[in-house]
Amino acid sequence: MSDKVKIVIDGKDFEFPVIEGTENEKAIDISKLRSQTQYITIDNGFGNTGSCQSGITYLDGEKGILRYRGYPIEQIAEKSNFIECAYLLYFGELPTSSQLNKFKKGLKGHSLPKGIKDIIDSFPKTAHPMAVLAASMAALSGFSSKENLTVSTLDSEEVLSQMMEQICTITARFYRNSIGKRPINSDPSLSYVENFLYMMFGKKVDKEVAKALDTLLVLHADHEQNCSSSTVRMVGSSKANPYVCIASGVSALWGPLHGGANQEVMNMLEQIQRDGGDFKSALTRAKDKTNPFKLMGFGHRVYKNFDPRAKIIKAATETVLNKLGVKDPLLDVARGLEAEALKDPYFVERKLYPNVDFYSGIIYRALGIPTNMFTVLFAIGRLPGWMAQWKEMISSKEVIKIARPRQVYVGSLKRDYKSLKER
Ligand code: CMC
Repeated sequence: MSDKVKIVIDGKDFEFPVIEGTENEKAIDISKLRSQTQYITIDNGFGNTGSCQSGITYLDGEKGILRYRGYPIEQIAEKSNFIECAYLLYFGELPTSSQLNKFKKGLKGHSLPKGIKDIIDSFPKTAHPMAVLAASMAALSGFSSKENLTVSTLDSEEVLSQMMEQICTITARFYRNSIGKRPINSDPSLSYVENFLYMMFGKKVDKEVAKALDTLLVLHADHEQNCSSSTVRMVGSSKANPYVCIASGVSALWGPLHGGANQEVMNMLEQIQRDGGDFKSALTRAKDKTNPFKLMGFGHRVYKNFDPRAKIIKAATETVLNKLGVKDPLLDVARGLEAEALKDPYFVERKLYPNVDFYSGIIYRALGIPTNMFTVLFAIGRLPGWMAQWKEMISSKEVIKIARPRQVYVGSLKRDYKSLKER
C-alpha cells in the first residue's frame, strides 16, 4: 500500500500522507490541503470524513461488525453487562473485580442537588423527557464542584459513575412527576437497571427482565462517530465542561433520524395497526420520493448488510415478551413490515435493513416505559460512550484542535447597505 496519495490540481501534484488503522482502514490526511492548495473539501453529512483517530469502537458496516475496545458486541451482550461495558469503554480494559466493585459503589449515593430537582419539577408534565434531560444535564455543571469539571479527575471513576447515576435519577423523577406521583428514592441493594426500574415504577423486577434492559443498554453504549458522539467531541473541543458536552449529545440524539427514531418507530407501528395492519401502504409512502415519510427504524449510514444490534434485539424481544406474558400485536406488525421490506427491490437495492431502533421499542413498551421516554433510554445507554469519546479527545496526546469546519460561500457578493427609505 502506498503511504502517500497524489492529488493533481491545475496540473500541479500535491502529496498527502495515508493513515492506516489497526483494522487496515485507510484515510488520506488532508490536514495541510488548504495551506498547500487553497482548496477545501466538501462532504455533505461527513460520510467520507474522518474526524479523529479513535481506539474505542470498531465498526465494519459492510460485514455487520461492531466491537467495543476489540470485543465483539455479541460476546459483550451475552456474557457481560452494562456496568462492565461502561467501564470498558471509558477506561479501555475490562475491570478487575476490585475495580468493578469500586465502580459499582460509585454508582450509588449521589443524590441530585435540590436546584436540579427544582428544575425538573418546574417542567410541565407534558414536556418531552429529552428536553428535561438536556436541560438538567447542562444545569448540573452549575451545581458541580469545580474539581469535577477539570481534566484532572478524568481517570477517576467518579466522573462517569456520578453522571450514570444522575441520568437515571433525573429520568425517573421526571417520569414520576409526569404521572402525578411522588419520586422514589433509589435502593442501593439493587443493580443499576433494577434500581432504575424501581425508581420509575416502585416495583422490583424479575432478574431476566432486568437483564433484557441491561442488554439493550449495552447495545446502545457506543457507536463511534455518530451524530451525537461527534457533537459531544465537537463541543468538547472548545474545552467546554463534560456536563454541557453531554447535554449537547442528548440534544443531537433527540432527532428522529438518530435516537429519536425509536419513538417514531412506535408511532409508525401504531399508525399501521390503526390502519388495520396495512404495512404495504407504509412501504409505498416510504418509497415515494415526493413524500417525506421514511420507514423509521430502517436504514443506516454505516451498516449496509445488517445491524448486528438489531439482530440481538430482535431475538431478545421474544424472550422478554414471553417472560412478561405480554402479547403485543405490534410485534406482528413489525415482523410483517420487516419481511415485506426485505423483499422489496427499493429496500434491497439501497441496502436498507432494520436498525437498532426497529425492535427496541417493543421491549421498552413491554416494560411499561412510555413511548416518549424511549429516546431517554437510548441516552442512558449511550452516556458511557459519549463520556469515553469525550475523555479520549480531551486526554489525547495530540494538540486538541477546536472543531471548526470551513464552508464554500454561495451568498450575495459585496453590496452597499440601503436605509429603510431606499429599500
Ligand atoms: N425509508 C425509506 N428510504 C430510505 C430510508 C428509510 N428509512 N433510509 C434511507 N432511505 C433511502 C434514501 O431516501 C436514499 O434514497 P435515494 O438513493 O433514492 O436518494 C437511500 O435510501 C440512501 O439513504 P440516505 O438518506 O442517503 O442515507 P443516510 O446514510 O444519509 O441516512 C439514516 C441514514 C439512518 C438517517 C436513514 O436511513 C433514515 O432516515 N432512516 C430512518 C430513521 C432511523 O431509523 N434512524 C435511526 C438510525 S440507527 C440509530 C442511530 O444510530 O441513530
